Amino acid sequence: MAPTDTRYVKVHPLVVRITHWINAVAILIMVLSGWRIYNADPLFGFKFPADWTLGGWLAGALQWHFAAMWLLALNGAIYLAYGLISGHLKRKLTPVSPGAVLGDVRSALRGKLAHDDLTVYNAAQRSAYLGAIVLLVVLVVSGLVIWKPVQFHTLGLLMGDYEGARYVHFFAMAALVFFVLVHVIMVALVPRTFPSMFTGRIKSKVAS
Ligand code: HEM
Repeated sequence: MAPTDTRYVKVHPLVVRITHWINAVAILIMVLSGWRIYNADPLFGFKFPADWTLGGWLAGALQWHFAAMWLLALNGAIYLAYGLISGHLKRKLTPVSPGAVLGDVRSALRGKLAHDDLTVYNAAQRSAYLGAIVLLVVLVVSGLVIWKPVQFHTLGLLMGDYEGARYVHFFAMAALVFFVLVHVIMVALVPRTFPSMFTGRIKSKVAS
């Protein structure tokens, strides 16, 4: 076996780090203002606690939602364009197979998921990150239908018109909030990854 050395290696490109943190802030604003907007006309038999919402009242929440919407969409477009053109998305988030994901989730539940090489995402991470990206696209598209139902009528037909788009938007939000909760718990369990999302580097074993 080749001898190994512990060295700092580059893991997250600058564009990914900047867009990641802008995205986190934009999502926080979108979710908290979205809950206030939901409270004005709930789809289900419950409301979100007013203290967990942003905007103070419906009009204030709509202003926050519309302001952060541009941040979220533009920032997401930059991340996706960079990821596709540079090969980052292909390199870091593929390949991923259902069998590999199930295997990783089983090992994680038994506390046996290996974390030796933090420069490579495991199958569970890859599928979760790809899922979060798809959810964000669904949120933006269904949000467009709710915002401009007449102009985006054809898009609306795909999700059962305005009312259908509201349900799609709600369930995609719920799934994304679930992703963020699990994501933050996983970061807390492997705290070395946290500073790497700022510095771009992580200490890792490399063949010397
Ligand atoms: C709020 C919504 C969030 C979303 C949608 C999100 C999504 C993602 C995605 C897609 C990646 C992979 C990026 C890539 O390599 O291209 C990632 C990585 C990462 N995220 Fe988040 N994230 C969010 C919030 C957070 C928060 C609040 C934290 C801090 C607790 C965090 C910490 C990290 C870290 C440390 C990594 C790198 C993981 C590693 O190297 O193993 N994220 N996130």
